[in-house]
Amino acid sequence: MLSRISLFLSLLVVSSLAKPPARPVYSTTSCPESRASSASSASSAVPAAPSGTCKCTAGQPCWPSAKDWDTFSKTLSHSIFDVHPPGYYCHDPHFNAALCNSIQANSGNSIWRADQPGAEQSDNWEFTPFSQCSILGNRTDACGQGRVPAVAVNATTVADVQKALAFAFQRNLKVHIKNTGHDFLGRGLGPGSLMIWTHHFTSLTFVTNFKYKTGQPAGVPAITVGPGNQVESGALGSVGAGGGWPLGGGHNIISPHLGLGADNVLELDLVLPNGTLITASPNSHPDIFWAARGGGGPSFGVSTRLVYKAHPITPLYASFFEALAATPAAFVSLLDTYHAALPALADAGWSGYYPFENGSYFALMYLLPNGNTTYGNATLGTFIQAARAIPGVTVKTDATTTYPDYQSWFVANILDPVAVVGFNYTGIVGGGLGLDTASWLLPRDLFEDPQKAHVMSEALLTVPAGIGQHVGGGVVSATPPTFNAMHPAWRTALSDISVFGGWNDLTPTSTIQATRRQVSDSLEPFRKLTPGPAGGQYLNEPDIFVPDYTIANWGTNYLRLLEIKEAVDPTGQLLVVQGVGAVGWDEEQICRTK
Ligand SMILES: Cc1cc2nc3c(=O)[nH]c(=O)nc-3n(C[C@H](O)[C@H](O)[C@H](O)COP(=O)(O)OP(=O)(O)OC[C@H]3O[C@@H](n4cnc5c(N)ncnc54)[C@H](O)[C@@H]3O)c2cc1C
Ligand SMILES: *[C@@H]1O[C@H](CO)[C@@H](O)[C@H](O)[C@H]1NC(C)=O
Ligand SMILES: *[C@@H]1O[C@H](CO)[C@@H](O)[C@H](O)[C@H]1NC(C)=O
Ligand SMILES: *[C@@H]1O[C@H](CO)[C@@H](O)[C@H](O)[C@H]1NC(C)=O
Ligand SMILES: *[C@@H]1O[C@H](CO)[C@@H](O)[C@H](O)[C@H]1NC(C)=O
Ligand SMILES: *[C@@H]1O[C@H](CO)[C@@H](O)[C@H](O)[C@H]1NC(C)=O
Ligand SMILES: *[C@@H]1O[C@H](CO)[C@@H](O)[C@H](O)[C@H]1NC(C)=O
Ligand SMILES: *[C@@H]1O[C@H](CO)[C@@H](O)[C@H](O)[C@H]1NC(C)=O
Repeated sequence: MLSRISLFLSLLVVSSLAKPPARPVYSTTSCPESRASSASSASSAVPAAPSGTCKCTAGQPCWPSAKDWDTFSKTLSHSIFDVHPPGYYCHDPHFNAALCNSIQANSGNSIWRADQPGAEQSDNWEFTPFSQCSILGNRTDACGQGRVPAVAVNATTVADVQKALAFAFQRNLKVHIKNTGHDFLGRGLGPGSLMIWTHHFTSLTFVTNFKYKTGQPAGVPAITVGPGNQVESGALGSVGAGGGWPLGGGHNIISPHLGLGADNVLELDLVLPNGTLITASPNSHPDIFWAARGGGGPSFGVSTRLVYKAHPITPLYASFFEALAATPAAFVSLLDTYHAALPALADAGWSGYYPFENGSYFALMYLLPNGNTTYGNATLGTFIQAARAIPGVTVKTDATTTYPDYQSWFVANILDPVAVVGFNYTGIVGGGLGLDTASWLLPRDLFEDPQKAHVMSEALLTVPAGIGQHVGGGVVSATPPTFNAMHPAWRTALSDISVFGGWNDLTPTSTIQATRRQVSDSLEPFRKLTPGPAGGQYLNEPDIFVPDYTIANWGTNYLRLLEIKEAVDPTGQLLVVQGVGAVGWDEEQICRTK
């Protein structure tokens, strides 16, 4: 095993010999003056022109004094606190054997990670190349702060969020909004920043006949959530229900029946970057309402209340399939058969996930609301028959079950590692590892063109591991592309292919860099088949190396998003990696580069 110190050294060597580190670019310029001291008016409500081109980060002379922090803290519902990386108590001088043991035991638990203010689900986003705090390694290794913010506000009221944004604005502080830390680019963290932590901002109410704040009845039942609630929104019980998931899109295995998360938002409360609270809906601030649903968190403000359309519970007929292909030809043939079947499966009402691995393993985890055996066998069963007939394909699992509701399916297959049938989803979603991802949306016409479908099959042969997510079509396709800011590619897509690469903290940098490159490169054939702006990636499953991220994330919607962003956030208070308006800033959005 490499020691933390030698890893640190190899990072230094690699980055000084080769190219500059991927992240972050720290400000080495002189300390920017704060707005409060330079602007003629120190009022938080009147945006003054920024005096410097950089935001103020911890450690600079412009950073508020302990006394200033204390005064600010007394105005909030909870005291502010210093944020530490999760491995803090595993290293001197803060080493604590009991705490460190418990940290190490919990590190892979995503619920535990979501509860740690300084943790991301994928710990690589807590680190910079020069500053890390691994939970592994020796207690004598340094614990660096990395990308973990310096100070946090435990926000549980709208006023907390407003005061924190106003304070950050006056002092020109770098600010980040963090909920559960599931972001695949670590967008809830940023070095030297003030964190507004919305994880404890919870509330949950149900109404049978929702009325907009403006008074109009919506005519549907609704569920109101605080951003920190963790419900079965993502493919794991720990993704936040009212933060990055709906603001960036939010897909689910039942999206083709009910729509995307962002499509189901009836109304939301947002604290705008200037501290103003608004309620956005089709009848109130419609531009911001459009932008916030798919524009990505937290670019248009901090959501403090979000109302979802509620849907009746239906029983689900579920199919589980696993096969192993003995040769590359058998794998490609299996994929060709599946790709050709997918549009008809979508039309028949099926949706699901299709994990693949090593150019040999292929599985289906499929659902049919209100389905039954006769119909299921006549539709998905036809594909399974065809798969069985492919020479070199061995079927490991072919099972069906009916669940009374989505919740039962979710608990059995995503949360409970014992009840799981076929592909073990619970085995791949542990936190605490380094992880890189990439995705691309696959439109229906690719599946309908045998040659293009074959290109996809060949491409998947060389991808080490990934999950095709057949979460498009149905209601998602029936929703107009102008409905919200989601990439219009979502409306033509049947599948969202996502690939992964993982490592642990002690993996050598060169291996990590090669893995990250491979993750991005493996989707190049898909990007070529459907280039932007018609094609795109899912911004919540982003590829850090994706070319032209504004087009990749939003296609033709980007220009309108940028206009709204500039009106709502002219000074760039809420910027994140690959976020709206982040072009022209460094990789940590601390300094303007042009
Ligand atoms: C294991 C795992 C499984 C996943 N499964 C799915 C899935 O099935 N479907 C899917 O669509 N996605 C899935 N995702 C991606 C997930 O939707 C995104 O990572 C999402 O952004 C997480 O939002 P969060 O608020 O929980 O996390 P965070 O990382 O805390 O926040 C994500 C982003 O939203 C911003 N944000 C957080 N709270 C707020 C707020 N209150 N107001 C404004 N902005 C806010 C943050 O600043 C950050 O930029 C998965 C991710 C992981 C790690
Ligand atoms: C910890 O330090 C000891 C003594 O220097 C060394 O032998 C060991 O390999 C280190 N362990 C790790 C995990 O770095
Ligand atoms: C944050 O606030 C919640 C809700 O009041 C509380 O349970 C939790 O202990 C607080 N955490 C910190 C670190 O202040
Ligand atoms: C894929 O290959 C890896 C490495 O050989 C192995 O550990 C893993 O079990 C394989 N996956 C499947 C599903 O066979
Ligand atoms: C099975 O499902 C199909 C499609 O929804 C439906 O048309 C059919 O009536 C159902 N059959 C039974 C026995 O429920
Ligand atoms: C499904 O159909 C196939 C023939 O296409 C048949 O062999 C099989 O028994 C059927 N399964 C069920 C569960 O009806
Ligand atoms: C699924 O994976 C989890 C985590 O690795 C493991 O504990 C569990 O035993 C696996 N379940 C099955 C049925 O193999
Ligand atoms: C805050 O920004 C919104 C949106 O741009 C604007 O309507 C509002 O007037 C601003 N409020 C203040 C106090 O500047």
